[in-house]
Amino acid sequence: MAETAQLKIGDKTFELPVIEGTEGEKAIDISKLRDQTGYVTLDIGYKNTGATKSAITFLDGEQGILKYRGYPIEQLAEKSSFIEVAYLLIYGELPSAEKLKSFQYELSRHTLVHEDMKKFFDGFPSKSHPMGQLSSLVSALSAFYPESLKPSQTTEELNQSIIKMLAKMATVVSWIYKKSLGHPVIYPQNKYDYVTNFLHMTFGQRTEEVEIDPVVIDAMNKLLILHADHEQNCSASTVRIVGSSDSNIYASVSAGISALWGPLHGGANQAVIEMLEKIKEDGGDTDKWIAKAKDKNDPFRLMGFGHRVYKNFDPRARIIKKACDDILEKLGVNDEVLEIAKKLEEVALKDPYFVERKLYPNVDFYSGIIYRALGFPTDMFTVLFALGRLPGWIAQWKEMKENKEPIGRPRQIYVGATTKEYVEIANR
Ligand code: ACO
Repeated sequence: MAETAQLKIGDKTFELPVIEGTEGEKAIDISKLRDQTGYVTLDIGYKNTGATKSAITFLDGEQGILKYRGYPIEQLAEKSSFIEVAYLLIYGELPSAEKLKSFQYELSRHTLVHEDMKKFFDGFPSKSHPMGQLSSLVSALSAFYPESLKPSQTTEELNQSIIKMLAKMATVVSWIYKKSLGHPVIYPQNKYDYVTNFLHMTFGQRTEEVEIDPVVIDAMNKLLILHADHEQNCSASTVRIVGSSDSNIYASVSAGISALWGPLHGGANQAVIEMLEKIKEDGGDTDKWIAKAKDKNDPFRLMGFGHRVYKNFDPRARIIKKACDDILEKLGVNDEVLEIAKKLEEVALKDPYFVERKLYPNVDFYSGIIYRALGFPTDMFTVLFALGRLPGWIAQWKEMKENKEPIGRPRQIYVGATTKEYVEIANR
């Protein structure tokens, strides 16, 4: 017999179905609770609320496990390319060699963005934050590709919207970078694969052909793979909830970018480097900063530490830490902040405050150090996270549409004033 849960309210007992996922996690299905009982559940920040049934990413925060479509992140990071992982997340299976080639070909045919988009770039102050530019520019793409606005697209139309979104994002990201330097933008070249093309548009020059170091291409692939999806986090949930009103792919992804921007989510990679720099300038006394992080009267938190769901080592942090050592060595970079990061980690991992709260380094603790070694300025880090997370957002958005999920609309418990009589301003 199927397992159920019982809920007792006063002298009445209600039966609630129990749902079990393929990895054994269980949920109590409360979707009919209000109809049955008149009650809603309250879970501020959705800390314990399953918002959907998803077949994209599995993560076990207690064990430190992360898999995309069943494949362990460690295997994908070691053996796969970013675009192969994007295909896996979006279409559900690893592609055959032929399918991967045609996916790559399709992407390369849509990398150009409309020339009029450049006027948007020109309108931004040169020092404006790249994440603000990115979310505006991605939303603006909808004006140039209006076929994506149709709420019920055929499979082919939906696929075209997905390809365009993926292909144009790399161009937009690299152009934001070029604008920050005041340099002319570099156009995509179809001879390159997705990641090489992105690096070519970012680090290439109009005046001469620039050879991109294979070490850099490899590191970029790894970083993008590790960021590609992370189930129902703040930005993915945002993309799903915006898309659930039948908003187009550009509007939904743009909302995800805004959600990612904050320092408690994707903005942490920028915040980590800023923190490490500050500690360096302050003389590198890691004990002093650990004490500040523990002090409840001090707002300082150890950025890159802690995670809503990982209460064990973030598996991506393990891979990135190793990649960080390798890349810095291969590129011959000697970065003092890496030493500070390692010292902070070593101290925090032994400190009872962090141990008791299960606060471990997350993916962003080391990613910024690699981005910096590759030559990216700090305020581009979160934009790179967005580029990596894009296939995940698309996969989440597509799954939500294919499952025909209803519009997202949580309930609340109202705690404001009860009815008041309006008082004329002269009498207040
Ligand atoms: N430094 C110091 N103390 C911390 C930290 C930290 N980085 N993170 C959590 N804590 C403490 C809290 O003060 C709290 O202590 P208390 O129980 O004594 O009050 C306890 O640990 C639990 O913290 P919460 O904020 O309740 O945990 P939550 O799961 O809500 O937050 C979060 C997770 C937002 C990631 C948090 O750990 C944090 O702010 N970390 C720093 C920012 C960061 O690195 N964000 C990136 C996340 S990964 C990503 O988005 C890709």
